[in-house]
Amino acid sequence: MDAAEQMGAKITSGPNWLEIKRGAWPLKGITLDCNHIPDAAMTWAVMALYADGPTTLRNIARWRVKETDRIAAMATECRKLGATVEEGPDWITVHPLPNGKHNNASAQGKWKAASIHTYDDHRVAMCFSLAAFNADQVPVRIEDPKCVAKTFPDYFEALFSVAHSNTQDIPVICIDGPTASGKGTLASRVAQALGYHYLDSGALYRVTAYAALKAGLSLEATDEARIADLARTLPVRFEGDTVWLGSEDVSDAIRTEQAGMNASKVSVLPAVRTALISLQHSFQRLPGLLADGRDMGTVIFPDAPLKVFLTASAAQRAERRHKQLISKGISTTLDSLRADLEARDARDSSRSVAPLKAAQDAYQLDNSSLSIEASVDQVLTWWQAKQPF
Ligand code: C5P
Repeated sequence: MDAAEQMGAKITSGPNWLEIKRGAWPLKGITLDCNHIPDAAMTWAVMALYADGPTTLRNIARWRVKETDRIAAMATECRKLGATVEEGPDWITVHPLPNGKHNNASAQGKWKAASIHTYDDHRVAMCFSLAAFNADQVPVRIEDPKCVAKTFPDYFEALFSVAHSNTQDIPVICIDGPTASGKGTLASRVAQALGYHYLDSGALYRVTAYAALKAGLSLEATDEARIADLARTLPVRFEGDTVWLGSEDVSDAIRTEQAGMNASKVSVLPAVRTALISLQHSFQRLPGLLADGRDMGTVIFPDAPLKVFLTASAAQRAERRHKQLISKGISTTLDSLRADLEARDARDSSRSVAPLKAAQDAYQLDNSSLSIEASVDQVLTWWQAKQPF
């Protein structure tokens, strides 16, 4: 706390709370003996990037024998960001980087986009998240962010709850494709791998149809306006695999073949599609979104930096759906499933609003003979190639 104050932060405190505000900006470079607080001192090495001069932290030999050699780790990762760093057996000096309109003469070099290695060290991950506030807005990736679990499992959620970002800067990956192409599984696995949110847009149409039938409406154009009204204020919530409509758990009810057909019916109604737009946009939250569904890349997130159009032969898709239903104890035949799939594809492809089609800039992925892991790896590789790291 004293050190943060020396660097220019304004701190007020009570018996069990601290409030820290920006004071001097740029921060002030300091020289400090860190013998008594070696762990916390790591934070200042990153704060030093925003200072008006170099910061030297002394007496930190213990950094070398912690989760990793923390002096080497802090030096390496600060350098990746573009900073000049000197280090000795028990000290480190970090020079600041340019600070936008608050720039200062002693800044050296310039901010570089970097993917920060975290060495399975929770403190490295947390400290370097501060680099994302750089004035040049260069992206900073924190690898293996879940390593914070050791002391602060919700660290990034807490950070995102207080940080603001322009919506257009929050990355979206779209995965579209025909029914039963495996896009749901692929999208949720990629979301998990990246720590991103997941939007199952098909579920929204399924829940809308379910709510409409429950309200006694028909799923035809005659009730379009009333279904759209329902959709606009749909009290839907996702909790892991559970889908709630108000206080009702509708997870199983919306997954039947009939529910899919019903969804397909309401989804041709333009007013219903419009009514669901802002709900879908609201899923674009930090740190990023995997959006799964027919028109994600063409209509809802047309500027998404990565779009994937997933396909598989109708025979393959029918077989997958068959296995899925059988495992849930729902009896059905392969032939009828295939006929249903083809009917649904035909309706989704031929409708006038947001028909099923690949975005022009989508990568095509035929997963007929790919394992889920191989498909996930392919999408992650494409995503990696889009990053400036
Ligand atoms: O993906 P899922 O099978 O759950 O979607 C159910 C139906 O909802 C689809 O057949 C399609 O008609 C409709 N849908 C849509 N636009 C989306 C997602 C689903 O029209 N973005």
